[in-house]
Amino acid sequence: MSPAPVPARTHGDLLLSVRDLHVTFPGHTRKATGTKAVVGVSFDVHAGEILALVGESGCGKSATALAVMGLHGPDVKISGAVEFDGVPMVGRSERELSRVRGKQLSMIFQDPLTALNPVITVEKQLVEVLVRHEQLDRKEARARSVDLLRQVGIPDPQKRVKDYPHQLSGGMRQRVMIAIAMACNPHLLIADEPTTALDTTIQAEILDLILELATERAMALLLITHDLGVVAQTAHRVAVMYAGRIVEQAGRYEVFDQPRHRYTRGLLKSTPTLVGEARDRLDTIPGSAFDAEPWDQGCAFAPRCDFAVPACQAPKLDLVPVGSGDEHLLRCVNPAGEEES
Ligand SMILES: Nc1ncnc2c1ncn2[C@@H]1O[C@H](COP(=O)(O)OP(=O)(O)OP(=O)(O)O)[C@@H](O)[C@H]1O
Ligand SMILES: [Mg+2]
Repeated sequence: MSPAPVPARTHGDLLLSVRDLHVTFPGHTRKATGTKAVVGVSFDVHAGEILALVGESGCGKSATALAVMGLHGPDVKISGAVEFDGVPMVGRSERELSRVRGKQLSMIFQDPLTALNPVITVEKQLVEVLVRHEQLDRKEARARSVDLLRQVGIPDPQKRVKDYPHQLSGGMRQRVMIAIAMACNPHLLIADEPTTALDTTIQAEILDLILELATERAMALLLITHDLGVVAQTAHRVAVMYAGRIVEQAGRYEVFDQPRHRYTRGLLKSTPTLVGEARDRLDTIPGSAFDAEPWDQGCAFAPRCDFAVPACQAPKLDLVPVGSGDEHLLRCVNPAGEEES
């Protein structure tokens, strides 16, 4: 797997812009303040590029993705700006959002069983999308559905298109979800842990399929994954999240060769095959994200960080450029030096 080349004609075109995004889930009681899942996240995705969003479980990756898609329920508090192709997404009506979703902007979820409708055949699910967004008549849409299944590698597509989701294997279901997501050639695909629910042997196949289709169609990809090996091989840029915030963001080479945030370093070291020889025991980052102090009392990672200094308690820790360009962004007052490895 090699990284997709960014197509020259679209290079630099801003597709998705997220600014100061906050997502707060409601508390269980009236007095509870709720969970601040995303705390001021900003990033851009350009046409044709693959941006990987990484970070440990619970750091707010899915909450960010769902906010971009406009898929959170009404009780979830969202603020900030999300612009897709120059059009604001936050605060748009469900009707307006559904015109964009599935057409220019699509998402593949971790678990295809919950995303697919269990009582409707694959054909009907595909036809519905194609009729709604591509203005095909039903006959054309049915023919296109079979084509799409063929494109995502489903054997005997004419027969399988009549199946209900439960009649398909996990890998096939994920392929169907990819077919639905790709049906209208979206400009941006969000893939949230698209392979974790699958058998390890099928994971690589499905990921290759997503990357192949993305490259073929010059589609941008926001890839959410725990698999840093995949990120190292595929992403153009990487954003590392911790406790609801991006703590480091840079081109893939900077992140993997010269990570500056102590959390990024910990994350890379805890991945078995990425750094140096295979070892008997993995490094783990002591503590857990749940020990994190809220960001308004300083860096949320400081309690787990061996390099914490008093300045980490600064109430305002911005994500600022480091190095010569403005490509490498860092939220840390005592980062690792460029020479440290
Ligand atoms: N529906 C919900 N109601 C309340 N809290 C939620 C809800 N969904 C997520 N959260 C909380 O929001 C925080 C961020 O969750 P999110 O699902 O975005 O994490 P994630 O980075 O996608 O993790 P994972 O890698 O495990 O998928 C977590 O603390 C989580 O418990
Ligand atoms: Mg998630």
